Amino acid sequence: MTTATKWWQSAVFYQIYPRSFADGNGDGIGDFPGITARLDHLRDLGIGAIWLSPHFPSPFVDCGYDISDFDGVAPEYGTMADFHHFLREAHARGIRVVLDLVLNHSSDQHPWFGESRASRDNPKRDWYVWRDGQGGGPPNNWISVFGGPAWTLDPRTGQYYYHAFLKEQPDLNWRHPALKQAMFEMVRFWLGLGVDGFRLDAIGAAFEHPDLPPHRARLTPLQQLNPLALSPDEWRSLMEYQQHQSGVHELMKELRRLVDVYPGDRVLIGEDDDVAFHGNGDDELHLVFNFPLMRAERLTPAHIRANQAARLAALGPNWPCNTLGNHDGRRLWSRFGDGLHDAALSRLHLALMATLRGTPVLYNGEEIGMTDLELTDLAQFRDTAALARYRLLTTLEGLPPAQALASVAATTRDRCRGPLQWSDEANGGFCPPGVAPWLPVNADHAGGVNVADQDRDPGSLLNFYRRVLALRKATPALLAGDYRALDEDNEDVLAFLRHDAASGQTCLVALNFAAAPRRAAVGLAGSARVLLASAGGRAELGSLDALALAPHEVLIAELAA
Ligand code: GLC
Repeated sequence: MTTATKWWQSAVFYQIYPRSFADGNGDGIGDFPGITARLDHLRDLGIGAIWLSPHFPSPFVDCGYDISDFDGVAPEYGTMADFHHFLREAHARGIRVVLDLVLNHSSDQHPWFGESRASRDNPKRDWYVWRDGQGGGPPNNWISVFGGPAWTLDPRTGQYYYHAFLKEQPDLNWRHPALKQAMFEMVRFWLGLGVDGFRLDAIGAAFEHPDLPPHRARLTPLQQLNPLALSPDEWRSLMEYQQHQSGVHELMKELRRLVDVYPGDRVLIGEDDDVAFHGNGDDELHLVFNFPLMRAERLTPAHIRANQAARLAALGPNWPCNTLGNHDGRRLWSRFGDGLHDAALSRLHLALMATLRGTPVLYNGEEIGMTDLELTDLAQFRDTAALARYRLLTTLEGLPPAQALASVAATTRDRCRGPLQWSDEANGGFCPPGVAPWLPVNADHAGGVNVADQDRDPGSLLNFYRRVLALRKATPALLAGDYRALDEDNEDVLAFLRHDAASGQTCLVALNFAAAPRRAAVGLAGSARVLLASAGGRAELGSLDALALAPHEVLIAELAA
């Protein structure tokens, strides 16, 4: 697929974290009425599709990724009627809706698990993964993603159940035909309601090796309790038998066939960076995230060029999907900022998302430069994995509470999950003054980091996002063009061409990551019309041989035909 002909190739995606987006009923928790009331914000921003993090009933031990009813709406988010209304209103604005599909596990409070754990001969016993222990311990040495053993003993039947994530998230057994059918029914249910596709949560974990071979990673006890801190190589070795096991591609093919029955090009996006999930290009997932791009301490031109070279080669004709943030990491502003030029860097990073080849996925709040929450009191934390880490640091490592708190505050996923800041009012306009939001609202909402203030300010980050996304939408080369790196040794400037054969259009993109003026030896002939120059002041590029760029300048120009 070389040209952007499908809606999911040209749309800009925007991830909504429902608990934090907008509170419609004033209880401090985001909900569907709140989201629906704010859809114009997304339309005005130029968003083509929403990826909604889980909205299903859940005990909320893993912030909604522990689902107790796959067919429902969490009561705190509203009713099924509220969901329908939201979907209709999004569609009325030309915005598609992609749901989060958590196939790997359910909540331990799901009625299926209640039945499964009731007795060894319950008809749903094998809907989950049960095994006998070994030598008085778990069946093997597998580790859960959030730390500690991946097996929990259920005293009622004396067997262990497997959980790739928290013990409250037992893994579903996809080798069981009835479980698969029940889950596929659920997928059909949502497709039938008119949703436009799914983001597949943790899809690489759907199958485990059936023989349970022990992993061969050599880890300290502390590393076993905090595997997310491992290097990518150590991680791969640890998860050798728990991820990317045989069966997963067959499952994706089945799912794809199921989805393709529905009209409207429903999309499947994998939370995985393995390009193998594209299958033959037309029989598994449509998109998988380019996580290696985001896995960097600093986004440098060299890192981005190397990433694009490797990624585009690996993808072949498959369509790229780029992102720099989601609900599991840090806020883009805080993560890739340098503390001095964060606003300018945020503009560069957005321009990068909008001009690289592929579908961009933005994370809510990024458009106004929301920053990481700094939690100071253990009672504020909602991220169970962080709380578990705190217990570990204070008990196993014997850290004083203040030090353990500082450590988890600096790593918790709560950092990027704070309420959206709509105005400079108390609680950032997320919920009424006086109501306690489920996570604190960042104090910087009063200092200009909010939608209302930035809406009024033509020079704001929000208005920059709007301009850049509008430009992308109107520019065939940015939507569909191929990618060619220029001036490849330049340490500070990322320069590349996007050429679209269908329209004949070629765009030059130059992003100066330095806080000082820089030149880029792009070595082109002819002239170009400036489409966007963040430093302002020029409409034409007379000489294209060497480009002069202002500090942190974003320059997008169309080459003369
Ligand atoms: C994915 C989600 C993450 C969740 C995990 C288990 O990685 O993005 O938030 O905790 O899966 O469902």
